[in-house]
Amino acid sequence: MTPELVLNNGLRMPALGFGVFQSPPEETAAAVETALKVGYRHVDTAAAYGNERQVGEGIRRAGLSPAEVFLETKVWVSDFGYDQTLHAFEKATRKLGVDRLDLLILHQPAPDRFERTVAAYRALERLLADGRVGAIGVSNFMRTHLDELLARTEVVPAVNQIELHPYFSQPDVQKADAEHGILTQAWSPIGGITFYPGWGEQRRSVLQDPVIGAIAAGHGRSPAQVMLRWQLQHGRSAIPKSTNPDRIAENFAVFDFELTDGEMARIDALDTGVRNGPDPDTPRDVFDRVIPED
Ligand code: A2P
Repeated sequence: MTPELVLNNGLRMPALGFGVFQSPPEETAAAVETALKVGYRHVDTAAAYGNERQVGEGIRRAGLSPAEVFLETKVWVSDFGYDQTLHAFEKATRKLGVDRLDLLILHQPAPDRFERTVAAYRALERLLADGRVGAIGVSNFMRTHLDELLARTEVVPAVNQIELHPYFSQPDVQKADAEHGILTQAWSPIGGITFYPGWGEQRRSVLQDPVIGAIAAGHGRSPAQVMLRWQLQHGRSAIPKSTNPDRIAENFAVFDFELTDGEMARIDALDTGVRNGPDPDTPRDVFDRVIPED
């Protein structure tokens, strides 16, 4: 049994989930199977990752029923709009091989088409009312996006999944989430993401940070384990990605040690304010990518 967080509608969610962003489809089923065998009971995917089908396959290969795994996925921007988002739910569940989802979130705020973002969220509210999803939420929403969404819809998102690691911890967004009772969920929780060859090449990786390294050495743990511990002790959800069986297991072995308040504060102080991933306010042509039916 892994530690759980209680969402704002009472639903319980394992705090540590397994991420599959950039997991190639041909490696995803094996990675998910390994993760579930190691003990993860929460998987986070997205229509835009192109591997929902393989996530479903991994669950079956692990010998689990979907009801035993907390399943989270995301609606891509090209499916925003009321009817389109209801249809996106059908596409996602068909690919995953399930008839309901635990958590369905909007992948991006899409500021240049916010009317459609609001309509998409209203479709999530409908799915929630109909019992097709256990909770609904958003991803990559900054304070302004949250304010506008909350002013125009009924259900406060249960989760806001944002880029969050020691070099970019977004205290302003975390504060906005907390004010509204929204759980902050960290993507790239160990700061490992590179988006494509050459992306952020000149940036230091937080996995090599000397402060994290020293804390890790003191506990006989790895830097990744220390960062995941930091996320969990702050009461956040985290969804580390790996396709490597040893690192999948390593990232789950974080429930038997504790960071001191001083260590937590030293990690908090590493924030650079510089994001590694794309800015949610910058429109991008990938928004127009069509999510296939099958
Ligand atoms: P790999 O899949 O080869 O393990 P994040 O989820 O923070 O974005 O990090 C994901 C990246 O970090 C991936 O490139 C992943 O590569 C790598 N990674 C995952 N777990 C670890 C770990 N325990 N130590 C070092 N790198 C890791």
